[in-house]
Amino acid sequence: MDGAQTPSIGWFHSLSLPGGEVTPGVKSAELLGVEADVVFRHGVAGKRVLDIGAWDGFFSFEAERRGAAQVLACDHFCWSGDGWGTKAGFDYAHERLGSKVETRECDVQQLSPEAVGTWDVVLFLGVLYHVKDPMRCLEQAASVAGELLVVETATALDVLPWPVMRYYQGADLGNDPTNFFAPNRRCLEAMARDLGFSRIEMTIHPLLRPHWRAPELYWKHSRVFMHAWR
Ligand SMILES: C[S@@+](CC[C@H](N)C(=O)[O-])C[C@H]1O[C@@H](n2cnc3c(N)ncnc32)[C@H](O)[C@@H]1O
Repeated sequence: MDGAQTPSIGWFHSLSLPGGEVTPGVKSAELLGVEADVVFRHGVAGKRVLDIGAWDGFFSFEAERRGAAQVLACDHFCWSGDGWGTKAGFDYAHERLGSKVETRECDVQQLSPEAVGTWDVVLFLGVLYHVKDPMRCLEQAASVAGELLVVETATALDVLPWPVMRYYQGADLGNDPTNFFAPNRRCLEAMARDLGFSRIEMTIHPLLRPHWRAPELYWKHSRVFMHAWR
C-alpha cells in the first residue's frame, strides 16, 4: 500500500501498519529497526516510558510493541505546528495500530516531575541538537528519568581530548537552521555525570561511519546513542 492512504502527511517515520501499509517516511523502516534494537537493547517490557520529541511516534509505538507498561509520547516543535511536520501522522498511526500510547504536547523545557511525573525510561532521541540550551534541556529530560535516560544525538569534534560542544551557524548542520549544537562524546558523558548518572554506555550509530575514524571526516559530525543509568 506504501502510504497510498496518507498522501497529505509529511512522514518522518516509515511505520509498518496493519494490512501491509508502510508510511513513506524520511527515516526508512530498516534504519528505524536498527536504531530501535540499540535504543531498547536493555529491554523495555513492563517499564513506564516517556518519549520526548516523538513526532510520528515510531519509538513510542515500538516501546508499546515490546511490552512497555505505559508510554507517554510528547512533542512540541512539530506537534504545535511550528515545525517541519504535524501530529497528523502520529494520530493516523495511533488509530490504525489501536495503540494505547498517551500523548502530551510539551516543550522539553517545560518537563518536570510535577508536570509529567517520573518515568522508568526516558527517550530523548534526535532532539538535543535542535535546542538552543542543550544542558538545560538535558537536565529537564534527566529530571523525569527515574532509572534510564536514552539520548541519541549528532556529535562533533570527537577527535579533541576535552569535553566540548560545537555551534552550527545558520543551516550548517544538515542544511537545517533548527540545528544548533552538537557535543562530543566526552561532553555528552560529562553532562550526564554532572546530572547524577553513574553508569554510561555509548554506542556509535551502527549504520554511520564515525568521523574520528578517518582524517578526511574529522570535522564532520557523527551520531551516538547514550544509555545513562542513575
Ligand atoms: C529529528 S526529530 C526526532 C524524532 C524521533 N525522536 C526520532 O529520533 O526519530 C526531532 C523531534 O524533536 C522535536 N522537538 C524539537 N524541539 C523540541 C522541544 N523543544 N521540545 C520537544 N520536542 C522538540 C521535533 O518536533 C521533532 O519531532
